[in-house]
Amino acid sequence: MTETTSPSVTAESASSAAELAAEFAAASASVSAAPLRVAVVIGSNREGRFGPVVAEWLLARVRERTDLAVDVVDLADADLPTSLSFSPSDAVSAELAKVTPKLAAADAFIVLTPEYNHSYPASLKSLIDWHGAEWQAKPVAFVSYGGLSGGLRAVEHLRPVLAELHAVTIRDTVSFHNAGALFDDAGNHRDPASADAAAKTLLDQLTWWAWALRSAKEVRPYGS
Ligand SMILES: Cc1cc2nc3c(=O)[nH]c(=O)nc-3n(C[C@H](O)[C@H](O)[C@H](O)COP(=O)(O)O)c2cc1C
Repeated sequence: MTETTSPSVTAESASSAAELAAEFAAASASVSAAPLRVAVVIGSNREGRFGPVVAEWLLARVRERTDLAVDVVDLADADLPTSLSFSPSDAVSAELAKVTPKLAAADAFIVLTPEYNHSYPASLKSLIDWHGAEWQAKPVAFVSYGGLSGGLRAVEHLRPVLAELHAVTIRDTVSFHNAGALFDDAGNHRDPASADAAAKTLLDQLTWWAWALRSAKEVRPYGS
């Protein structure tokens, strides 16, 4: 007979695992079936930005999914200062109010980032740093764009930052190399097949993690 219990599992931890399994089994029937809320963060805010073209392409694919409800967090619409404060002024609070409730309500995020100087834009760092619990125990997927690198260096810089905030980053990304040339003047991708396939993979992985983490958090709050 094969030994199924690792020798390193103590009697105490085995009993905790059994208790946890029972807790999950009892609670699974009551896990919310509401569509997952996905916040799409448009990370660039510079004048003349290309971001909205990629954002519209992405949003069209997210909106095709009946299991997802989407909120848009466009950093061009919120003027978040780089100086953080525990007691923001009324003016700063008003800017935060444009983004914080959407982050708090999200089950999952898609961060749309360009690459600036081999990293991601300051606007995105500011959004991340103004928040904490809003990111915690939630999955984050990335859609990136830029020049030759397609924004991949921006994505790799975002992963450890979000890990610090207890977010879970999704392996697969969608990236647009030399993005400006890939879309026509009406914002349509000139050759969409591979990007559409990558978007499906990304959304499938994000959805899996979002359901898994929503279910787990409904059984036990994260960290308890
Ligand atoms: C300040 C700045 C730095 C950039 N640095 C890079 C870079 O390091 N690598 C790259 O591939 N593209 C780089 N680019 C090109 C941008 O990724 C590209 O223009 C993209 O469209 C910018 O996104 P946005 O138009 O939405 O702001 C840079 C652009 C700017 C404005």
